[in-house]
Amino acid sequence: MCSDTISYKVPVVTVDGPSGSGKGTVSQRLAAELGWHFLDSGALYRLLACAARRDGIALDDEPALVALADRINAEFGFSENGDERVLLDGVDVTRTLRSEETGNAASQVAALPAVRTALLAWQRRYRRPPGLIADGRDMGTVVFPDAAVKIFLEARPEERALRRYNQLKDNGIDASLEEVIEEVRARDERDRTRTAAPLVAAEDACIVDSSDLDVAATVAIILGQIRAKI
Ligand code: C5P
Repeated sequence: MCSDTISYKVPVVTVDGPSGSGKGTVSQRLAAELGWHFLDSGALYRLLACAARRDGIALDDEPALVALADRINAEFGFSENGDERVLLDGVDVTRTLRSEETGNAASQVAALPAVRTALLAWQRRYRRPPGLIADGRDMGTVVFPDAAVKIFLEARPEERALRRYNQLKDNGIDASLEEVIEEVRARDERDRTRTAAPLVAAEDACIVDSSDLDVAATVAIILGQIRAKI
């Protein structure tokens, strides 16, 4: 009989960084390439912000938001033409979810410590074999501190605002470039300076600047890091 304890932890690769750094696109490609699961943790904060607006809950009402986090039901999937489709309690909220306004509201609820704690278990449930790519702000520092590979994706602020603007346009969402620059700046400032899980690179993270890289080149660099370690 084998007396050794064999412990297996599902590998996690964390991809953290500010808005517009390309985390979402890069993380989805990595997950597809490796055949791993994908966690878009920002979507969970966005969903909570949408549900709060729906139920008339103030974005700083911590106890009510915590209770709300416990009862919302989210489904992530794809429509017939392959576009992302997100249901909140059975209602399609995909468009609202991706607006800058919701991003801003998400960043307000995300600054509340008890809300962050309430979303921890939900995020950790995404850790399933054969592996997980986790995209967010605190994936490597708080949610998966034991991740096998931690990436912190950066890009120059003007480049990030432009990417965000193009992404909104692609999704058919109206916005002016000036507004997006200001919203990205305000959101980053809040995310970096909050006391609960601020946006910061984990000590053991590898920092990748994607300002002058396209998606394929960024994915190739990160895949190199993953294959060297896992
Ligand atoms: O990544 P995304 O833009 O969808 O995130 C929306 C907001 O949710 C961020 O600006 C941030 O305040 C918050 N967030 C967070 N921690 C995460 C993911 C997102 O605080 N892990």
